[in-house]
Amino acid sequence: MAATIIDGKKVSADIKAELKMEVAQLKSRGIEPCLAVALVGDDPGSHIYVRNKEEACALIGIRSIKEQLPASTSQEDVLALVESWNQDKAIDGILVQSPLPKQIDEHRVLLAIDSAKDVDGWHPFNVGQLMIGESIFESCTPSGIIELLKRYDIEIAGSQAVVVGRSNIVGKPVAMLLLHNNATVEICHSKTRDLAAETRRADILIAAVGKPKFITADMIKPGAAVIDVGMNRTEAGLCGDVDFAGAKEVAGAITPVPGGVGPMTIAMLMRNTVQAAKAAAGI
Ligand code: GUN
Repeated sequence: MAATIIDGKKVSADIKAELKMEVAQLKSRGIEPCLAVALVGDDPGSHIYVRNKEEACALIGIRSIKEQLPASTSQEDVLALVESWNQDKAIDGILVQSPLPKQIDEHRVLLAIDSAKDVDGWHPFNVGQLMIGESIFESCTPSGIIELLKRYDIEIAGSQAVVVGRSNIVGKPVAMLLLHNNATVEICHSKTRDLAAETRRADILIAAVGKPKFITADMIKPGAAVIDVGMNRTEAGLCGDVDFAGAKEVAGAITPVPGGVGPMTIAMLMRNTVQAAKAAAGI
């Protein structure tokens, strides 16, 4: 039987519509959520991401501020901007788009963001909160993955979940969220001995390695839910970490690229921004 195609675009649109109603209610109480985004340098991908974030804000009714800085910007100037946003009571969420130019230490910038405004959920305080199941802001891509699984009624509790990739922004936090949802979780990486033997045990397989079509049909358990976090720009266009054409013949459910996990990241960012505004207002 052909796999269910998990439509991240549709789920993202549903969440944004839910948030739009919530924001309208907040505005009637005098609360206007506001997201500030810093874009440093000329990374073409980043420009597209930031534009998508601005469009999502406009759709939902979130005020957005964008500060575009040249690639030559100093670390001190980025830190000064972040500090001014930390102090600004009208700003609820702060996002410094990654990657940053080489002269800027990303970790220092992250540490400078007020953790109560860290809507990416990347500040070490929020990473720790996620670890102990006390998140205010869950990291957006991992929480988007959990949301997709839930909205497609894919049973997480008791499942065998295998995460391929151990990055700080996807692999590790999604493994932790799956664990909080009572999956039995395994994290695989480049040193894993027999990767295919591990992935074939997965009821839920998360591919977050950054290698085009790395996960092939023979690595998938029949009926498994396959979540592809890959966003690889190849000569043939955008492509995931999963060989979609082959995998969809084996999987029970699968996310496409584009239109799977990608749109969920922005929806979760919008949710975190609304959450930040509510928390700041004591709601
Ligand atoms: N670059 C690509 N995706 C993201 C994201 O979700 N947040 C930030 N800050 N930078 C990114």
